[in-house]
Amino acid sequence: MYRNRTCGELRLADVSKEVILAGWVQRIRKMGGMTFIDLRDRYGITQLAFNQETDPEIFDKANKLGREYVLQIKGIVAERYSKNANLPTGDIEINVTELNVLNAAITPPFTIENETDGGDDLRMKYRYLDLRRECVRKNLELRHKMAFEVRRYLDEHGFLEVETPVLVNSTPEGARDFIVPSRMNPGQFYALPQSPQILKQLLMVSGFDRYFQIVKCFRDEDLRADRQPEFTQIDCEMSFVEQEDILEMFEGMSRHLFKTIKGIDLPKLPRMTWADAMKYYGSDKPDTRFEMRFVELMDILKGHGFGVFDNAAYIGGICAKGAATYTRKQIDQLTDFVRRPQVGAKGLVYARVEADGTIKSSVDKFYTQEVLQEMKKAFNAEAGDLILILSGDDANKTRKQLCELRLEMGNQLGLRDKNKYSCLWVVDFPMYEWSDEEGRLMAMHHPFTSPKPEDIPLLDTDPASVRANAYDMVINGVEVGGGSIRIHDAQLQQKVFEILGFTPEQAQLKFGFLMNAFKYGAPPHGGLAYGLDRFVSLFAGLDSIRDCIAFPKNNQGRDVMLNAPGIVDQVQLDELEISVNKKEK
Ligand code: AMO
Repeated sequence: MYRNRTCGELRLADVSKEVILAGWVQRIRKMGGMTFIDLRDRYGITQLAFNQETDPEIFDKANKLGREYVLQIKGIVAERYSKNANLPTGDIEINVTELNVLNAAITPPFTIENETDGGDDLRMKYRYLDLRRECVRKNLELRHKMAFEVRRYLDEHGFLEVETPVLVNSTPEGARDFIVPSRMNPGQFYALPQSPQILKQLLMVSGFDRYFQIVKCFRDEDLRADRQPEFTQIDCEMSFVEQEDILEMFEGMSRHLFKTIKGIDLPKLPRMTWADAMKYYGSDKPDTRFEMRFVELMDILKGHGFGVFDNAAYIGGICAKGAATYTRKQIDQLTDFVRRPQVGAKGLVYARVEADGTIKSSVDKFYTQEVLQEMKKAFNAEAGDLILILSGDDANKTRKQLCELRLEMGNQLGLRDKNKYSCLWVVDFPMYEWSDEEGRLMAMHHPFTSPKPEDIPLLDTDPASVRANAYDMVINGVEVGGGSIRIHDAQLQQKVFEILGFTPEQAQLKFGFLMNAFKYGAPPHGGLAYGLDRFVSLFAGLDSIRDCIAFPKNNQGRDVMLNAPGIVDQVQLDELEISVNKKEK
């Protein structure tokens, strides 16, 4: 028997018991005639004590150990002389009577403790060592628990987990595909699924009724803190449902997760239309932990001789409560912030509400106190508040800039507390969005999304204004999930494809199997997918989803530990009939 207890479980009640533990040496402290070793396993840390006087032989052996050696020890649990309140096992230590080195270890490239000296790159290269650190392991434990509770909830609600293939054809989610060459079909390629969208819809045609899958998805897109090229969805689909049924079912799932994992009772989720989200927050994933809604100021501030505003297509602002104390320097820094290329605004106008209620602004020479007071009223601003205003000739772009400013102010004023959760549904997304790159309308969600029935006539007259039965769940400004009611009528689907610019032949070629399947009796259906990585990161309070993935990719899409992607043998390429054009140096 390698061990009979773990390094996380021994307490005062165990004093005098003989135990066998196994684990890694985290730390060695030599203090004259005593040596102490912190022994670590998945469950915690237990202090081992070696006394020169009582057992010189084991004491000598202990002094020869190094960090990360793998040990097995036998010993007696004893009450500690100086206790460590930060450690669950901090009241006890083990007086070691037998010491067995199971494996030696070379010195690790960084200290394997919560506070480590290892930088990001180094830790990623030695991710298997990084994963020994408690703070990293905890995120994966949380991930396991959440996936487990998801399965429990969905199973209780009659969902079947069905696996779908990974070698498929291109799926239309809007990102680039990762492709895999087929040896048996030279010149042809599989694509890795961006999501199992079409397959889950086919499962509805098959009558599976309630499907889910915790599934890897692959998207070759630019990486950000909340994006990985391979990530995990909790993918779900239901038959004979309307939007309301889906929202209720999955609000229930989120409530279950909040309750079981965080002990939080989630209130009924508010719903916001996409149009309102854009109008008041400049984003389809508003962070509603704090108010600071946009106020449009076109009516109030246009036409007073201030050229920048007079020529603007949009003027809007936010009111930062209590921020009138901002110094000139701080406001200059905010101006620099909005001028950064990532935000792209030209400048920032500010107005302070003074203690006596009057307004002092950076554009005082263009506006009378009367007009400024009208603006103050529009914001419901009070003495001590700071109003920040942006304008621009493209309303949508300016709203996005104002959104960045709002989030920055939220950060600066400490309004984005990671331990506070604000969840909502954003509903009524538009069916289409215009793509400058493609020069055509593109599906905002995906081409199988159903229009709102009352908007169907607009497909012929004004497709850009058609709203979809599509919804996202947003938590703290993060899109954790999204889905839609699907089209189950072949004719309507045909029309939607037409608007997307597919000829009937192209549509047949690309999605023929789905449209054919629909001819055999497709039930009304819909669903959604959560991003598991994002959900876990939110619960763990992480800044990047990388930290809840065991072996993530870096920002260049590389696994620096496996050194993937890598070069393959010429023989392998020849077999696949692929020639690699190496760039001439
Ligand atoms: P969508 O594309 O909105 O919908 O994806 C669903 C959810 O998956 C997560 N997600 C990601 N997480 C990490 N890295 C990425 N690169 C990434 N891309 C997406 C997000 C997102 O909300 N088939 C549809 C769902 C449906 O209609 O049922 C789909 O994939 O949290």
